[in-house]
Amino acid sequence: MEILGIDIGGSGIKGALVNAETGEMLTERYRIPTPKSKKPKDMAKVVAEIVDHFDYDGPVGCGFPSIVKNGVCKSPGNLDPSWVGVNIDELFTEYTGHEFTVLNDADAAGYASMNYGVGKGKDGFVVMITIGTGLGSGAFYNGVLIPNFELGQIPYKKFKKIEKWAAASAKEREDLSFKKWGKRFNKFLELVELIVCPDLIIVGGGTSKNWEEFSHRIKIDTEVVKAELMNHAGIIGAAVACLREQHHGHLH
Ligand code: BGC
Repeated sequence: MEILGIDIGGSGIKGALVNAETGEMLTERYRIPTPKSKKPKDMAKVVAEIVDHFDYDGPVGCGFPSIVKNGVCKSPGNLDPSWVGVNIDELFTEYTGHEFTVLNDADAAGYASMNYGVGKGKDGFVVMITIGTGLGSGAFYNGVLIPNFELGQIPYKKFKKIEKWAAASAKEREDLSFKKWGKRFNKFLELVELIVCPDLIIVGGGTSKNWEEFSHRIKIDTEVVKAELMNHAGIIGAAVACLREQHHGHLH
């Protein structure tokens, strides 16, 4: 079944049509920068532009960069704080006329990896980490999603959350080399290992395309692999989650 997947990030909103049964992307990715205000209505307009770009009239799957519970935004993430409490499903339906399934962006990326990528068939505790504006995390136990893991929120040094220090946005802001930033990312992974002790960590998000530049800085005991679907995983996973909701009425 063909489903439109949308991945909302702190810097870009991206969409593509996906074969949600095979996990294949059927079109080019269409991307519009995230509006500077990062406010609900401005972002909903961009979501509507993405939907209009495609000749499509079914339900839409959407990864969103915050805690999402029953379609409602529960944390600001790196967006405007006015998002908290907004029913994202309803807002996007109002702006597009399409039915929406919204879930956390890293959970969506994890869905893609667990179904069609390196996580396929992996039992035990698998953690997906996405590197972008923030540090996202998706947790899977024997392939089943435990939604809204927020490992990027671990406080570190003077930072309220470690993602402020170790995400791709910190690398950019402070103009860090891959060597310097890679050490920070490794520190983050050390804490992840210490706190939740996964069997496997999959690294995705925009920065994973530079894997060769920093993977040798990762020095933890847990196996760490690159997500092959890279920054398409969020789009593909959102479409897959949407198909599941269509079939089962819920995501699991
Ligand atoms: C948010 C997460 C999100 C991550 C990546 C963080 O700021 O708290 O919910 O998954 O950014 O977008």
